[in-house]
Amino acid sequence: MAQMMWAGRSSKEVDSKVNDFNSSISFDGRMYRHDIEGSIAHATMLGEQGIISMSDSLEIIGGLKEILADIESGALQLDMTAEDIHMFIEAELTKRLGDVGKRLHTARSRNDQVALDIRLYLRDEIKEIKDLVVQLTKVICNIAENNTDTIMPGYTHLQRAQPITFGQHMMAYAQMLLRDIDRLNDIARRMNVCPLGSGALAGTTYNIDRFRTASLLGMDAPMVNSLDGVSDRDSCIELANAIAICMMHLSRFSEEIIMWSSWEFKFIELDDAYSTGSSIMPQKKNPDVTELIRGKTGRVIGDNVTLLTMMKGLPLAYNKDMQEDKEAIFDAVDTIKMCLIPFIPMLETMKLYKDNMRKAAAKGFINATDCADYLVKKGMPFRDTNKITGGLVAHCISLDTTLEELPLEDYKKQTDLFDNDVYEAISLNTCVMERKSYGGPAPESVRAQIEITRKKLEELCNG
Ligand code: ARG
Repeated sequence: MAQMMWAGRSSKEVDSKVNDFNSSISFDGRMYRHDIEGSIAHATMLGEQGIISMSDSLEIIGGLKEILADIESGALQLDMTAEDIHMFIEAELTKRLGDVGKRLHTARSRNDQVALDIRLYLRDEIKEIKDLVVQLTKVICNIAENNTDTIMPGYTHLQRAQPITFGQHMMAYAQMLLRDIDRLNDIARRMNVCPLGSGALAGTTYNIDRFRTASLLGMDAPMVNSLDGVSDRDSCIELANAIAICMMHLSRFSEEIIMWSSWEFKFIELDDAYSTGSSIMPQKKNPDVTELIRGKTGRVIGDNVTLLTMMKGLPLAYNKDMQEDKEAIFDAVDTIKMCLIPFIPMLETMKLYKDNMRKAAAKGFINATDCADYLVKKGMPFRDTNKITGGLVAHCISLDTTLEELPLEDYKKQTDLFDNDVYEAISLNTCVMERKSYGGPAPESVRAQIEITRKKLEELCNG
């Protein structure tokens, strides 16, 4: 078993069950690169400030780089009996360099070290997640571009409501994803401040240069308060929240894809490469990817709640509870990446049954609003038109017909304002093509949305 660094204070060895319970290396081992990056910056600053000698500083940096290379090549395995990744790397450095290795931790504590590592680790993860969300948004814009005039029913309460275009429906998701990217950018900016130099909680008596370590690590500034530096996990919570929101968007999208691919809708068909069969029902093609995304959204929401609950009762500064931040936030970042990776090509290869969409839009009195609007344009107050159209719909239902097929004399029985041009006004094409208000479903409005979205996407990518 690894010798504990704090063994001097204790009269006995800690029970191995407690060591196992305490150890976090099984899950924080993944931060080895970031731990070494932080230690290199720290050792550089210690040397520059004359807190350790320049030659010790250089030796430490060389040793850390070798450890990194050895972990990466597989020559060095993480020791699962170590307390955590920080202890493991320091012990390995000391094994290799002797007393020089023991100087690395001067003017530092694991409390500021771990607070830094998690920020550096998540900074990289945010970039990966963002890249995937950007890719997805681009795919959605392309699908929308090819379907600016693909008519489908729009729903409220899952009842056919008004006709829209598939392009419009796609672009709704693009807007959600733009906000997700914006949130990720925002979090990345806010978390890019450096806790290193906060020490255990109360800074240090050494003449450290916190601005130097921050800039070596590409961070904007040192964190202003040492207690906050080691106690803050807002970035984990904010990120878990942003991921939960993004997953909620993917989950709603998934839900629609599941519905649309059912025989009842048949608006789309997933490519065989992105759907599964049934072991006993040969006719089945199951949208497993989307169902799993919908399912996994629950665990990510759980991660967000875990983090908030873990933090809410903690007195300042560090408490061991905070070690629990990692599994939750790692699970959230792993899960969203895992979901986005198959979702993007699945969407790209999805086949659309435009005729079925159109047929569904032609049914269900989806043009009733337009019939009412026709009367408004002829001068009738809007509230009265609603009642008349409702009556016409009820009349059509009793005759098992539609508004398009109802004879003009039946219209005229309601009001003389109706004329032959009503048929043109309530035709499916008119209903969609005339909805060209800003943000609306008409092809020209959707094209404008795509342009705005692509521009915004470019801005966010540079942001
Ligand atoms: N493994 C610990 C964590 O993840 C590192 C910090 C330990 N600090 C301490 N005072 N025990 O939080």
